Amino acid sequence: MKKILITTGGGDCPGLNAVIRGIVKRAATTDYEIWGSIEAFQGILKDPVEIIHLTPDVVAGIHVKGGTILKTTNKFNPLKYPVQTADGKVVYENRINELASKIRDLAFDAVINIGGDGSQRISAELHRLGIPVIGVPKTIDNDLQATDFTFGFQTAVQCATESFDKLVTTAESHNRVMIMEVMGRDAGWIALHTAIAGGAEICLIPEIPYSVEKLVESIEKRFVNGRGFVNIVLSEGAKPIEGEVFGRKGDVGSEHIRLGGVAFELSAALRRSGCQHDIRETILGHIQRGGTPIAFDRVLSTLFGVKAMELVLEKNFGQMVSYRGNEVVSCSLSDATSGSRQVDLDNKMLLLARGLGIEFGD
Ligand code: F6P
Repeated sequence: MKKILITTGGGDCPGLNAVIRGIVKRAATTDYEIWGSIEAFQGILKDPVEIIHLTPDVVAGIHVKGGTILKTTNKFNPLKYPVQTADGKVVYENRINELASKIRDLAFDAVINIGGDGSQRISAELHRLGIPVIGVPKTIDNDLQATDFTFGFQTAVQCATESFDKLVTTAESHNRVMIMEVMGRDAGWIALHTAIAGGAEICLIPEIPYSVEKLVESIEKRFVNGRGFVNIVLSEGAKPIEGEVFGRKGDVGSEHIRLGGVAFELSAALRRSGCQHDIRETILGHIQRGGTPIAFDRVLSTLFGVKAMELVLEKNFGQMVSYRGNEVVSCSLSDATSGSRQVDLDNKMLLLARGLGIEFGD
């Protein structure tokens, strides 16, 4: 039997298990067996290695479950691997060559790496070093190039929209301003989709820095014109004009600052700029990333898994599975990692949202 290694890296995301199951089911009638590395590539870099055999029995029914049975981490990027020195400092080492040779030593014939932009950069590097790799795009942020959707995104939007609907009824009862903060890092896709689905008055995204004065004016208009309450969807990465993104130092070994909490900054800024109404803040956080994937994401993840396995069978390596124009296709890893996908100012959905009267604070 030939052997394929699967990894799930970066933040978890609803649909990861469905991809794993899709790969294993498609492989069942081939001469490939599937192995999973625990905690992304950590399982391979560890001594002894931590890998598990993924048989059809192991993956039966897991498509319904959130998270990943293989566990994940966003701290141990083999390209920038954190190592603690004797004096407590953290230095970074590139362990990609070591990773590639361990994959060869373990006699894997291919690797399917399921992850976001950081993970796909690892895929591209492994491929450059001659490892046959396929990428599968994952992230609730939907910020990967070369795919219309990553799995997990629609589940996050569904969660945010259901929460938004609840906040609308309480905003209406109390005549309040409600700020609901959603994830998305540097991309406003979750906020934009949620604002349209929920019917938000105001949507603040990282791509459009906002004027607090403009927001106070818009809130006031809405109160004067009779609705008497305002619901705001705020991206965690949104920032005021002439302001900074609100974040904290990341975990040791993580490359990113930790976002989250800007709702309280916005609420304080609105008050300082004269907003007299009651304001309440809700930060959805990791609820958006947990739990069972909605049907759309289960379908997408399952098909992504099957497609990844088919690319292996065709020996079409160096590719990332993608979803384009309602079809599951693939693109090169270099296209996939050529930058992140944000909401452009001329994005059609953004323009239509402006047409609906949603205020973006610019
Ligand atoms: O990239 C996915 C994401 O959920 C972002 O939306 C968010 O900023 C980040 O991960 C949170 O990461 P962590 O799980 O490390 O807090």
